[in-house]
Amino acid sequence: MALKPIRLELLVLLILSQRLPHLTAWLWVSTESPSEVRACPGKDVLLSCIFTVYPRPVRLQVLDVYWRRNNKKVARFYDFETDWRSRVSLFPEKLKKGNASLIIYQVDGTYKGHYVCQIRYGRQHQKIAIDLHLRTTPQEIAQCVAVDP
Ligand SMILES: *[C@@H]1O[C@H](CO)[C@@H](O)[C@H](O)[C@H]1NC(C)=O
Repeated sequence: MALKPIRLELLVLLILSQRLPHLTAWLWVSTESPSEVRACPGKDVLLSCIFTVYPRPVRLQVLDVYWRRNNKKVARFYDFETDWRSRVSLFPEKLKKGNASLIIYQVDGTYKGHYVCQIRYGRQHQKIAIDLHLRTTPQEIAQCVAVDP
């Protein structure tokens, strides 16, 4: 019995989306950080970058996480390899859960700047941006002490 043409198309689509998920993958990138983060000198700061993919689960082989500060690479996960500059880290074990956040340890003035988290997933790509400032006035620094006894 021959399949009707429309059914055949659906079948081909179904098989394609199963076999080649990167062709039909869907990506959404967001952040839980404010667009301007005011960090406390000497403290650790988390820059949030969260992504959702469809279909699930996350396929690390088509994932490329690229964090830049003022257009220079600070951290990357690509082809199962991670690299980052000193005092900066991703959480590789969290990537499968869609968490590509960046932590900066003991932040100081050299880490100020415009951060971009760019995620490529197969053919999809999206990014979010966060500006990192350092608290400098005595009042602002007093708040840092207050939240961390
Ligand atoms: C992402 O991972 C970091 C580090 O473990 C954690 O602090 C943060 O809460 C996570 N964010 C989400 C949305 O799960």
